[in-house]
Amino acid sequence: MKKITSKDLRVCYLNFFKERGHAIIPSASLIPENDPSVLFTTAGMHPLIPYLLGQKHPQGNRLADVQKCIRTGDIDEVGDNSHCTFFEMLGNWSLGDYFKEQSIKWSYEFLTDPKYLNIDKNRLAVSVFAGDEDCPKDEESASYWRQCGIKKDKIFYLPKKNNWWIAGSTGPCGPDTEIFFDTGKPACGKDCSPACDCGKYLEIWNNVFMQFNKQSDGTLIPLAQKNVDTGMGLERTVCVLNGINSVYETDVFLPIIKKLEELSKLNYGSSADVTKAMRIIADHIRSAVFLLGDRVGVTPSNVDQGYVLRRLIRRAVRYSNFLGLSKGDLIKIAALFIEIYKDVYTELDDNQNKIIEELNKEEEKFLNTLISGEKEFLRVVNKLEGSLIDGTTAFRLYDTYGFPLEMTKELAKERGLSVDEKGFNEKFAEHQKLSQDTSGQRFKGGLADSGQATTLLHTATHLLQASLRKVLGDEVAQKGSNINPERLRFDFSFHRPMTQEEIKKTEELVNQAIKDSIPVVCEEISIDEARKKGAIGLFADKYGQTVKVYTIGGVSMEMCGGPHAANTNELGRFVITKEQSSSSGIRRIKAELIREE
Ligand code: ALA
Repeated sequence: MKKITSKDLRVCYLNFFKERGHAIIPSASLIPENDPSVLFTTAGMHPLIPYLLGQKHPQGNRLADVQKCIRTGDIDEVGDNSHCTFFEMLGNWSLGDYFKEQSIKWSYEFLTDPKYLNIDKNRLAVSVFAGDEDCPKDEESASYWRQCGIKKDKIFYLPKKNNWWIAGSTGPCGPDTEIFFDTGKPACGKDCSPACDCGKYLEIWNNVFMQFNKQSDGTLIPLAQKNVDTGMGLERTVCVLNGINSVYETDVFLPIIKKLEELSKLNYGSSADVTKAMRIIADHIRSAVFLLGDRVGVTPSNVDQGYVLRRLIRRAVRYSNFLGLSKGDLIKIAALFIEIYKDVYTELDDNQNKIIEELNKEEEKFLNTLISGEKEFLRVVNKLEGSLIDGTTAFRLYDTYGFPLEMTKELAKERGLSVDEKGFNEKFAEHQKLSQDTSGQRFKGGLADSGQATTLLHTATHLLQASLRKVLGDEVAQKGSNINPERLRFDFSFHRPMTQEEIKKTEELVNQAIKDSIPVVCEEISIDEARKKGAIGLFADKYGQTVKVYTIGGVSMEMCGGPHAANTNELGRFVITKEQSSSSGIRRIKAELIREE
């Protein structure tokens, strides 16, 4: 068996599939683009769903990659040998090209050939789908495994619970065949199989034969094309190949653990609590680094991905307190992760300032709230009758003191107390509904749907660009724009951060234009005429082309497809919520329209 580092395994895997006609595609963002139904990319197939469903992929029908993934479902398990919130998944795909036979034979070759992983075939075990009313027993896959030389007693037929794969509840899915490393431990009983968690079998690879599209009513519609979707956990496989018990002892984590030992003057492994704390810090800071450094980008907040990020950072801070680390030590850990990964994930290099700054800020915020939060928690505990902290109290700790529920639970557990989680969740849901209602009201008074909210933000974007050019000069030109019903995002060329005054001045100019109730006028003219009039815009020169020009009084004249508000007075109050770097020489502004009744 080949002893191999994670760095080498990435390269070895991708080369293997490249040699077999696969295009190597870059890892997609951790934040699913165009899919609001999930917070994070949880598997390599996630960004490929449209292509599994039939859309043509620009790079062909054989793909391979290493995909960054985040799964937070098991966050409470982090600290044991194997659970991580962030991981890398090696994957290869056939989009309607090869199917079971080729997929199984390549997997077998990669795992056993001395040129690649060189695993003894007698140490492999596989599972295939046992069959049910939806899909027959997968004798076909089993026969390919036998052809490869896997003995009959190493081929297990397992039900849907084990050998069927789908991301979430709807979408592309199908039976799979999973490949395990047999540790050689004795079977735990006569029913011992890869389905049990006795530790005899360790999963290495999952090959899914995606041939159905599951509908929300549960029906399985056969897909027009048969796909293969595979996933191999990078660190888990490194563990198996090197005979290491824990992912935290692989090459990506070892320097981190060493650093934590040095900073805390404690030894990893010296007690279960120290080991757990070091693992949690390592895992959570790594996830935070990847989330903050992602090209789409997340910052800590109280909703969605931002909330998960906040929770990860704050939990790491709490465990760093337990280890006696000083403020600033977590930054050192983050910097080390950037160093370890930046060659493979260049976005971490590009965004290192943001990563460090945001971590710093969040740590500081949390340390302040921690002091008052823990005080409040102790006050609650002192007054507590019985051993249950009620939901309202837990929610108050969260809402007022920034204490995530999980922290309250952990502090409670340390004292033999428990928390009414159901009550907390009810309060949380009530609160969310309330804030949704308030934000929904922003656009009341004429605005019936999100389409209109977007339209108004579109007009606001024109006013913003005009105002930026007034405040910062003609260097400002649009480099990108993205609008959803909640906010606008505008990227523009400018060589330095804006000052607070400049931001304020820009807001004032936009709000003045809104107050002035200026009609928005659209005309269709030739592109030359538009240019002559001084209209700005991103249209490529095409002789004789007609364009729409939207004029907002003397404030703005821009070529654009529309649609726009009829009058600026429909817009509400304009606020810039963020000004930040987007990339070198490009700034990014996020702004909203607030409707004040
Ligand atoms: N999509 C499959 C998984 O994540 C390969 O296991």
